[in-house]
Amino acid sequence: MNEIDWANLSFGYMKTDYNVRSYYKDGKWSAPAETTSEQIDIHMAATCLHYGQEAFEGLKAFRGKDGKIRIFRMRDNALRMISSCQGIMMAELPVEVFEETVIKAVKMNERFIPPYGSGASLYIRPLLLGMSPQVGVKPSAEYLFLVFVTPVGPYFKEGFKPTPVAILRGYDRAAPLGTGTIKIGGNYAASLVAGHKAHEMGYSAVLYLDAKEKKYLDECGPANFFGIKNNTYITPLSSSILPSITNRSLMQLAEDMGLKVERRQVAEEELATFEEAGQVGTAAVISPILKVDDIDENKSYVISKDGNAGPISTKLYNKLRAIQLGDEPDTYGWVTVLE
Ligand code: PLP
Ligand code: COI
Repeated sequence: MNEIDWANLSFGYMKTDYNVRSYYKDGKWSAPAETTSEQIDIHMAATCLHYGQEAFEGLKAFRGKDGKIRIFRMRDNALRMISSCQGIMMAELPVEVFEETVIKAVKMNERFIPPYGSGASLYIRPLLLGMSPQVGVKPSAEYLFLVFVTPVGPYFKEGFKPTPVAILRGYDRAAPLGTGTIKIGGNYAASLVAGHKAHEMGYSAVLYLDAKEKKYLDECGPANFFGIKNNTYITPLSSSILPSITNRSLMQLAEDMGLKVERRQVAEEELATFEEAGQVGTAAVISPILKVDDIDENKSYVISKDGNAGPISTKLYNKLRAIQLGDEPDTYGWVTVLE
């Protein structure tokens, strides 16, 4: 293996040694087994290809100062994948199979876990696919669950530096009673055009409004939204956003730091009142928001007046990273330490 430049990794795919797979057939999941192949042998009429029976997850493993490997909130990702399975009628993947497959994939690719202090981490991508052929719109009888890993740096190249985001009123990501609360590929396909447009205009992401009233903040393309004012952490409550595990972690940390936490509808105009705001997710960690431009309405909300991350976002970021890396004790039971 060529030397990896850990400190300059971007968020992208790098081949690692193994991925680990479990197949569902006749009501049973097979024991997770490793392969070196990056390919999948798939029937041309498989339901994942035609009818979008596909769900995925994203979580991270870290190397601590003590040399130990820590996986962050693995069980919560397993539970969210179950809700994705329920949402698009896939066979439910048991928590134990999810965890066993993830742990095996991390251990077998241990040499790809970025060293402590590099700022990088090992991104873990669990993927679940409907494999059997159907031509009518019906769920698959058989499924493939696989986990691959890849070392990554920051999702936004700016890292922990504020970036601008855009509201594009001509696009919705998910409908109020649709699939926005689960992690399936279709939601991301639906976000590609708006995301591309925003990037071309120099924005890091789209900040979606609620699809029904176009009045309240929903979330960003790859991350939840939070705002801070008057010592309060505020994040949208919506029936069309992904329940972010990182956001849930920050709500807990904020509360324990003495902030008030509010999960409620956030009208767009409230952006004018935030002292700090950010995008939050596994890939994004916390990515502070510089300003929000509502392109079609020709409005601009400047959040970071000096172009830097605010003090509360910085404190939350440092606390979260410290727990993930094992620099601070895991008092919440969020971390799985691999032996
Ligand atoms: N929202 C969307 C649309 C996402 O893709 C993600 C990433 O997983 C998040 C929010 C953040 O969720 P989490 O913190 O669980 O990674
Ligand atoms: C994550 O944060 O894990 C995501 O899935 C975001 C994006 C890469 C889809």
